[in-house]
Amino acid sequence: MNYYCGIDLGGTGIKAGIVGEDYHIYAAASAPTPKGVDGKTLAAVIARVAEEAAGKMNLTVADTAGVGMGTPGYIDPERGINHFSNNLNLSEDPMAQNLSDCLGGKPVRIGNDANVAAYAEYLAGAARGSRRAVMVTLGTGIGVGVIIDGSDHGMAAEGGHMIIRHGGRHCSCGHDGCFEAYASASALVAQAREAMAVHPETMLWKLCGGDLWKVDGKMVFDGRDAGDPVANQVVDQYIEYLGFGLSNFINLLEPDMMVIGGGICAQGDKLLIPLRRRVREMVYHPLFADRCRMAVAELGNDAGIIGAAGLGGLPPAAAPSR
Ligand code: BGC
Repeated sequence: MNYYCGIDLGGTGIKAGIVGEDYHIYAAASAPTPKGVDGKTLAAVIARVAEEAAGKMNLTVADTAGVGMGTPGYIDPERGINHFSNNLNLSEDPMAQNLSDCLGGKPVRIGNDANVAAYAEYLAGAARGSRRAVMVTLGTGIGVGVIIDGSDHGMAAEGGHMIIRHGGRHCSCGHDGCFEAYASASALVAQAREAMAVHPETMLWKLCGGDLWKVDGKMVFDGRDAGDPVANQVVDQYIEYLGFGLSNFINLLEPDMMVIGGGICAQGDKLLIPLRRRVREMVYHPLFADRCRMAVAELGNDAGIIGAAGLGGLPPAAAPSR
């Protein structure tokens, strides 16, 4: 069996995996994404993580059949350039070449992280068999990948930067009111922290051990489950924001499948049930919502690695049937 190296570069972490033709991840490694470094330094860290994953199978990355990487940003996949990434603070970065240089000249293909994850879900996950699928990844930012008749739409979908509020919250892209400033996982945490600052009585303080910087998305949902009114209000508001964005995508593209990715997926129906209800109320006609299935990513956190291995050459035909 051939093995491919798939790398999932995110705003907070780097994950690399060695993926077989059966779409199974045989070895993986990860590290935090270094902050404030230039493209070459970042590439050296990514290469170390990829070699660590390959080393677990007594391989080097050069031994694999191909290397692909999903990265946040506006990507030219043909030239391997990351034109701009607000989450990585890079512009006009020759990412594929930099990484290839650190991997002994092994060619590397890059693509937008959300497009890559969407493609993986289409090949082997929740969007399999769909005609028009939208995948929305909720992490440091919001990524949007659109699959139409089996092909991902390269540079097209920067849906996280759709403006949902005039003069609204400042986004790391430099504009104000972007969807991701309201509905990314980081935005959920920011909104929880703001609520905590004015509600010393909220259980969230106990859940984070009194340390505001330890708050994460799961804690906010846990607080809601435990009946904390502040956590409840933060989650309700968050679902409303998320609903705005998803309704806009549904009105615009009329997809038959909407896949939600990111750590928040672990909430399953606790997220999906209220979200489906809000989206149904907000779309142009409820039939738009009824005709669009909504599910959490089936490949979970593996979608980025598997889709990236796909960029590296892992053939679609090898995807297992559902
Ligand atoms: C970036 C996208 C990326 C998304 C998820 C956004 O802030 O603009 O390119 O896909 O975050 O990482």
